[in-house]
Amino acid sequence: KLKIAIYPGSFDPLTNGHVDIINRASDLFNKLIITVATNNSKKCLLSKTKRLDILKETFLNNPNIEVDSFEGLLVDYAKRKRTFTIVRGLRTLSDFDYEFRMAIMNRNLDNRIETIFLMTDEKYSHISSSSIKEIYDLNGDIQQFVPQIITKNKPINRK
Ligand code: PNS
Repeated sequence: KLKIAIYPGSFDPLTNGHVDIINRASDLFNKLIITVATNNSKKCLLSKTKRLDILKETFLNNPNIEVDSFEGLLVDYAKRKRTFTIVRGLRTLSDFDYEFRMAIMNRNLDNRIETIFLMTDEKYSHISSSSIKEIYDLNGDIQQFVPQIITKNKPINRK
């Protein structure tokens, strides 16, 4: 019965941990819709367009992956897509609390929603977009944590 799933996130920037989850999810589902949240109040390093372009280029050769974006509630997006399976990655126990609350909240908003958690490879368990943003802001080298396209094409604007 597992057919289509949505993998939502900020992807600011896309990390090797996200790529690992995306590869795992695209092996499990016939189709995976990666969707970039574009209305969050978080200060973003990358514009919506850049975040979408990076995802599209990274998964160009994977025909079962679609890249999209959404504003507003994830459950409303899920309704529009008629896809109620959401994939989220878990790195460590500390992710669980936030993820658990979000999954339950989403199911309260629409009881068709089912959130499936995939574990990242432990070699990515320390990687987060927010730490990458901080390292980048402080002039550190981020290339071991993100797909090559990010550091190669230098799409990140220094503030
Ligand atoms: O990559 P992130 O920042 O962990 O992704 C979080 C995201 C975008 C999936 C979450 O914040 C979200 O779904 N935002 C959309 C607004 C929404 O539906 N909020 C209610 C969640 S309980």
